[in-house]
Amino acid sequence: MKIRKFETQEALNEAAADLISGLVLRNPAAVLGLATGSTPVGIYASLVRRYEAGLVRFKQTTTFNLDEYVGLPAGHPESYRSYMQNHLFKHVDLVPEQTFLPDGNAADLEAECRRYDELLAGAGRINLQLLGIGHNGHIGFNEPDHALLSGTHIVELKPSTREANARFFQSLDEVPTHALTMGIGSILKAESILLVVRGADKAEIVHRALTGPITTDCPASLLQTHADLHVYVDSEAGRLLD
Ligand code: F6R
Repeated sequence: MKIRKFETQEALNEAAADLISGLVLRNPAAVLGLATGSTPVGIYASLVRRYEAGLVRFKQTTTFNLDEYVGLPAGHPESYRSYMQNHLFKHVDLVPEQTFLPDGNAADLEAECRRYDELLAGAGRINLQLLGIGHNGHIGFNEPDHALLSGTHIVELKPSTREANARFFQSLDEVPTHALTMGIGSILKAESILLVVRGADKAEIVHRALTGPITTDCPASLLQTHADLHVYVDSEAGRLLD
């Protein structure tokens, strides 16, 4: 595990964008695993700037997002598809047919999970998986539980997760109760993982995830088992890490 602490958000964003664009420059047909939420916003902005400056191209790149809410109408501004459109996809030359998210409006959600796993398997290995972490240690929407699932599945969001995400909606009632998420097995299969953590409110959970027991009570703790884990933290989130 390689942990890097950054004094500014800009330095963190640039280092994360270096890792991602460096991979795409070396391997234009790379498969990227992407995340949503507030953590990656500045990283995507940096990738867009690099693209606009002609420093990187994504035409051959494939992306798989970790998760999507169930039941938000297509085009809803808070769907993760909309988020990805607004922060990255519409600004760069990624081919739409090569940008994958689970479809939270599929008529048969179980079949949609199987379809997503087949797409993942067909793409080979994710070369780099970008991750944030929830306050309860979730990655993707793999919430703490007595067992974790390997493949894509439907998850009921914990009240704490819905409350944390309510900031993006008009009210807590509007936050979907369920989501589709890639499983822990798919995440851990990635060749490299970049976990990004910002803010004092994440200091305890990232410390617990990286130094505490490996337990399904803290899904991110399973990242300790990964052979090529990069952790980028700001100084506040990294306060408890050496
Ligand atoms: C988002 C995702 C989640 C977030 C986590 C942190 O695709 O998979 O695990 O990474 O909830 O969210 P933020 O970055 O908003 O604090």
